[in-house]
Amino acid sequence: MKDIPPNRKERVYLTGFMGSGKSTIGPILANTLGYEFVDIDRAIEKTMGKSVNEIFLERGEDHFRQMERNLVSDLCLKRHHVISLGGGTIADPRNFHSISTTGIVVYLKATPDQIFKRLHYKTDRPVLKDRSGERLTDEELRARIGELFTEREPYYGKADITVITGDKRLGLTVDEIVRQLSRYLE
Ligand code: S3P
Repeated sequence: MKDIPPNRKERVYLTGFMGSGKSTIGPILANTLGYEFVDIDRAIEKTMGKSVNEIFLERGEDHFRQMERNLVSDLCLKRHHVISLGGGTIADPRNFHSISTTGIVVYLKATPDQIFKRLHYKTDRPVLKDRSGERLTDEELRARIGELFTEREPYYGKADITVITGDKRLGLTVDEIVRQLSRYLE
């Protein structure tokens, strides 16, 4: 196992594609570790008083990505936090650097097919819609998920810990993360 500098133990980042369970698992994990919890998307929504969908539509993706970068640079200084990233956060090289040098990164891994099944009824992911915010057809959605997955997997794949979420029960996924983390946090 790699030698982890002591300050990296103070933050755990959850990464993975949309629908991989980051926002659900984050608060449970934080509670288990006795850490504070922050979800990047919810924090941006709170600051803006708007949903991520509305921010994309009204201000554009670049504005959202700038807010995401600002938040990452603040959060990577906080002590004893579990931070659920957005699916695209770690694929920005500046964020990747801040995240990987300041915390233990946990990748919640699901296949593109599982992600399609989990997300195809949902309407709250602007990067999975067309430019005017309309739903994609199932075929277009599969292609979009595949494209983004290929683009992002190299970043996700550099995580310290990878946990296959698949169809595993939530409790088992959390147990596995805690088990793998204990080697880093002790
Ligand atoms: C995004 C993922 C979303 C949110 C935004 C963009 C992405 O977060 O940050 O819609 O680019 O993958 P979740 O992964 O929590 O859905």
